[in-house]
Amino acid sequence: MPSLTSLLNDRFALALEQSFGEEFTRRDPVIRSSQFADFQANVALPLAKELKSKPRDIATTIVANLDLEGICETPEISGPGFINLTFTPEFLASTLNQGTATEIESETSGARIVIDYSAPNVAKEMHVGHLRTTVVGDALARTHEYVGNTVVRQNHIGDWGTPFGMLIEHLLDVGIESETAKDISANPNAFYQAARAKFDSDEAFATRARARVVALQGGDEQTFELWERLVGFSRIYFNHIYSLLDVTLTDEDLAGESIYNDDLAAVCAELEEKGLARISDGALCVFPEGFTGREGEPLPLIIRKSDGGYGYATTDLAAVRHRVRTLRADRALYVVGTPQAMHFEMVFSIARAAGWLPEEVAVEHVKIGNVLGDDGKILRTRSGAPVRLAELLNEAVARAKTTLQESNAEFSPEEEAEVAQIVGIGAVKYADLSVAHDTSYAFDLDRMLAPIGNTAPYLQYAGARIRSILRKADGDAFTAAPIHLGEAAERDLSLAILGFSDVLAEVVAGSTPHRLCTYLFDLAQSFTSFYEQCPVLIAESAEVRDSRLRLSQTVLEVLEAGLGVLGIRVPERM
Ligand code: ARG
Repeated sequence: MPSLTSLLNDRFALALEQSFGEEFTRRDPVIRSSQFADFQANVALPLAKELKSKPRDIATTIVANLDLEGICETPEISGPGFINLTFTPEFLASTLNQGTATEIESETSGARIVIDYSAPNVAKEMHVGHLRTTVVGDALARTHEYVGNTVVRQNHIGDWGTPFGMLIEHLLDVGIESETAKDISANPNAFYQAARAKFDSDEAFATRARARVVALQGGDEQTFELWERLVGFSRIYFNHIYSLLDVTLTDEDLAGESIYNDDLAAVCAELEEKGLARISDGALCVFPEGFTGREGEPLPLIIRKSDGGYGYATTDLAAVRHRVRTLRADRALYVVGTPQAMHFEMVFSIARAAGWLPEEVAVEHVKIGNVLGDDGKILRTRSGAPVRLAELLNEAVARAKTTLQESNAEFSPEEEAEVAQIVGIGAVKYADLSVAHDTSYAFDLDRMLAPIGNTAPYLQYAGARIRSILRKADGDAFTAAPIHLGEAAERDLSLAILGFSDVLAEVVAGSTPHRLCTYLFDLAQSFTSFYEQCPVLIAESAEVRDSRLRLSQTVLEVLEAGLGVLGIRVPERM
């Protein structure tokens, strides 16, 4: 299905060329307008100066050359020179009748998109911040794939660096085969904290730990095997959370900090050779242009510490290089918390200066805001400890189950468990996705699970309700029936359906899954008003009934596809 705006924009481009010549062609004057028409083009006003003519006259010329035969009613010029466009019901109906509402042709399809997301740390609990990078990143990955791009997922886990010395020594102390070691897969923080406490209080242990780091970075085989065991335990934990969350990340997508270990020396050497790095206070630093501190002094990005160790920044420089050179990214997204904004700006700027990041490759930090508690502070338990993600998710599922039991749907225990899972997890994911990714939001299970409002349960219920209508339709002969748009509510609904393509393009261009949430919420609301105003199963004739059934079915398809790219399922019944 073509996107409605790109269809109109193409026609405008032609009209502009015919009216004023090639140099005046624009391809993006058309925007959605809810008040006076379906769409509005603001193209005459911006040209007034250049053409030395009145906007309304320019608009008249454009309209005279605008071929919208069979698509729109006669365009209207409004106000100072806007062009208002309204689709004919026949055009809307015939577009829907092609049955391709969920088949999207993207203008960018075929691009290679590298997406860095989730990225928890080994031997540490995933916190709600990781929940958000995971959920938003996964929605972006699915959306890009849906519109025909190739996605390379990179789970940049924290699996390297100084803490691994103490973690490995602690692993040896407790015994590799011990229950304490295995507990990392279920309760990683306990292990980490025990290692940390020993490191801080036991000098001999700290010395062993430091020596272990040197052995690990130097490629000592036995140390490497111990490290692999640690990472393996954490992987079980990550995968448990991923399967609970129903995200698409697999072991194949793991690309932790460790994989860059062998590149770090070369990254530093190259930056030195290019004159971009120099020693300052014993450390090798890059001072990227335009980054200054409070007193205007140039800000360094340390790429090799004075003790010879490399850090997070060096790894990210190696990662950019790898993503362009080896993974051949056309565009790379970094779905990571907002506090790391400066880090990424510096890394990207240095990578550009070093020639690792050519102009035509776009890199973007998709900034992820905080998840807050009801006190407006970063979410913590009452005792002040970080909230355990698995517990939070189980709680959401348990509450969804209680709600299901209270409503009178007669579910078998298996179906009840399955629907509770879909609704509980869907609610948490949707709450995360429905606010702009760079703003913070308060984690509130009651609001997330509310059956009304912009929530997953509301949309899932809308989907389940359409399914129930379709089940009552005895037979599916209607799927081949033509859609006619008689009532205003039917017309509004079809316009909403046909906006799917545009909203996906918007999500892909701006990395904004919340726009898709708003779209789906509006669609569900349009369906509700349609259903209130237009009887479906008891419509006045068989033709109208079938047309409305098919319209309803198309809404269901779009709802399912839309929630699907957000990583949320629609239960059969609710
Ligand atoms: N592991 C890091 C954290 O928990 C996030 C890594 C993000 N990705 C990156 N390329 N730096 O904060």
